[in-house]
Amino acid sequence: MFKFILEGGHRLDGTIAISGSKNATLPLMAAALLADSPTILRNVPELRDIRTMISVIESLGVKIELNDGIMKIDPAEFYNTEAPYDMVRKMRASVYVMGPMLAKLGKATVSLPGGCAIGPRPIDLHLKGFENLGATVSLSQGNIIASVDDKLKGKTFDLAGTSGSSVGATCNTLMAAVLAEGTTVITSAATEPDVSELVNFLIKMGANIEGIGTTTLTIHGVNSLEGIVHTVVTDRIEAGTFMIAAGITHGYLKLLNVPFEHMESTISKLREIGLVIKKESDYIEVYGDANTFSPVMTTTAVFPGFPTDMQAQLTALLSTVKGTSIVRETIYPDRFMHVPELLRLGANINVMSPTATIQGVDHLCGAPIMASDLRASAALVLAGLAAEGTTTIRRIYHIDRGYESIETKLKNAGAVISRVQDEHSF
Ligand code: UD1
Repeated sequence: MFKFILEGGHRLDGTIAISGSKNATLPLMAAALLADSPTILRNVPELRDIRTMISVIESLGVKIELNDGIMKIDPAEFYNTEAPYDMVRKMRASVYVMGPMLAKLGKATVSLPGGCAIGPRPIDLHLKGFENLGATVSLSQGNIIASVDDKLKGKTFDLAGTSGSSVGATCNTLMAAVLAEGTTVITSAATEPDVSELVNFLIKMGANIEGIGTTTLTIHGVNSLEGIVHTVVTDRIEAGTFMIAAGITHGYLKLLNVPFEHMESTISKLREIGLVIKKESDYIEVYGDANTFSPVMTTTAVFPGFPTDMQAQLTALLSTVKGTSIVRETIYPDRFMHVPELLRLGANINVMSPTATIQGVDHLCGAPIMASDLRASAALVLAGLAAEGTTTIRRIYHIDRGYESIETKLKNAGAVISRVQDEHSF
C-alpha cells in the first residue's frame, strides 16, 4: 500500500489536462459486449476501477486490452454468463455486465455487490428494469440470477426509486432493452451526462433510442449491433476537483479538456463562493482569492443539480471559507466519511445526516489522516494542499480508483506531494 505525503500551503499555478471520464467509460465497456464486432474506445483513463472492469469482462471470455488510453474490446467469445464474486465485490459498477449478458446470452449470474463505504447501495432498480423486460430474477447464495426464456420484450415502465432516478439502473436497463423485441419506454430515467454518453454510444452502434438527455427514453429494439470507434468524454468530477484545488490554494489553474457543458451546477456554486472561472476557446482558467470567498448553502441532487460526487471536495473547500456553510446530501445521506478526517486537520463541521454545517476556520493544520472512499480521498488531498505543515494520507488506493496520476498532475502545478510506500499499512 502507498500513502501520500503532502506539504501544504503551496499556491498552485500551472496547467492540468483532464482525463477521460471513469463513470462514462464503465458502462461503455459493458455496452461493447452487445456488439457482434470489436469496439475501440479512446481517451480511456488508466484507473483501478477501469482495470477491475477489464478483469470482469475478461472473466466472461472476452478479449480486452488497454494501452496508452486506447481500449480494444472483442466480444467474439462472449459466452460466459457468470461474473464471479471476487471481481464484483471490488466494484459495484461490475453489475453493468448484467444488462448485456441478459440481452445477448439470455442469462446472467452476478454476485450481489456488498455494502460500500458510502452506505447501502441497493441494485433493486436494475433488477426492476430487467423484470419489466420479461426476465426472471432470483437470489441464490449471494448471487443474483436473471434469465429470460426466449428474448427480452419491450414494455413501458417507470424506473424511479425512493430517492429518484438511478444512473446505474438506467444504463443497465438501456443495455438490456436495445436488443429486446419491440419498444421499451423508460420513464424517470436518469439524465446524467454518463447516461447520455451511453445513449449516443449505443445509437452509433446501431441502436434506435429517442429522448436522449430527458427522463423518458424510448428504445425500439434492433436485432444486432456493431462495434464502433468512440472517444470517451472527459471527467466532470475530476475537472471540478481541480477547480477546487485552485480555489483552496488561492492559486491559478489552466484546465484543459473540461466538459464545461456538463458542469453548470458545479461552476455556478464555485462562482457563488467567489472562484473566478473563465471559459476561453480551448481551456478554462480558475483562480481564487480567499478574501473574496463567501459561505454557501448546497444541496446535492440528480443532474443537473449539484453532484454528490463533488460534495466531499466542496466540503473541504468550505471548511476554509469564513462564515457558516450548509451542505445537504440527498443522494447518499450518510456520505460524510471525509468529515472526521477533516476534523483532524482542524476543520469545524457538525454533521446531522443528511446535513453538514461547516464553520470556516482560519487555517487547517496538517495531520495523519485516512482515505475511506474515492471522493472522500479527493477531499482529503484538497484539504492537505491547503493545510499548514505535513499531511499524510493513508489508503490512497481509493483515490487511484478514480483519479489518473493525481499527484503528478498536482506536482506539475506546484503542489508538494509524494507517493511513498506505507510501511504501517493495515
Ligand atoms: C453512479 C456513479 C456514482 C455517483 C452516483 C450518483 C458510476 C460508476 N457511479 O452510481 O459515482 O455517486 O451515480 O450520481 O457511475 N438506488 C436504489 N436502487 C438501485 C440503484 C440506486 O435505491 O437499484 C439509489 C441509491 O442508493 C442512491 C440513488 O439511487 O441513493 C442514486 O444511485 P445511482 O444513481 O444508481 O448511483 P450509481 O449508478 O450506483
